[in-house]
Amino acid sequence: MADIRTVLVLPDSRLRLVSEPVARIDAEIRALVADMFETMYAAPGVGLAAIQVCVQKRVVTIDVSRGEEKKKPIALINPELVWASDERVIHEEGCLSIPDYLGDVERAERVKVRYLDLEGAAQEIEAQELFARVVQHEIDHINGVLFIDHLSRLKRDRVIKKFAKVAKRAAVG
Ligand code: NI
Repeated sequence: MADIRTVLVLPDSRLRLVSEPVARIDAEIRALVADMFETMYAAPGVGLAAIQVCVQKRVVTIDVSRGEEKKKPIALINPELVWASDERVIHEEGCLSIPDYLGDVERAERVKVRYLDLEGAAQEIEAQELFARVVQHEIDHINGVLFIDHLSRLKRDRVIKKFAKVAKRAAVG
């Protein structure tokens, strides 16, 4: 049975850690992935990186199916971008670790990503549209990068200050 794990929220400094490659896909990794899907669907969100549930490993879960569509869960172990299109698109983004905040982020329209699946087999896929955006967002996470890092400094500082204030208030109250 999979569990919903607690999602780290800004300004938690662990979100800035660079995650370690997975050396072996074992029962622990499979349990982590199952919990990540459970956590992601409950939120709800379309993508999650292990570091967001405080596991410093290069593991990502994504499902960009919408509404009543059949679910399309995909787990990426040690994902890396091997190609990105020159065409770039700007679209609104959010993050489970930065709740209730959206910002416009420019990213490559299409990317190729190489990763290991849960059986340990090497895979390479081309992603586009929302899937391409989520792949780039989640790979940023495992490198300690948040989508607000792609915003103007002014906007980023404003968001960080806001979340720091909320955290301080929570600590006091
Ligand atoms: Ni995120």
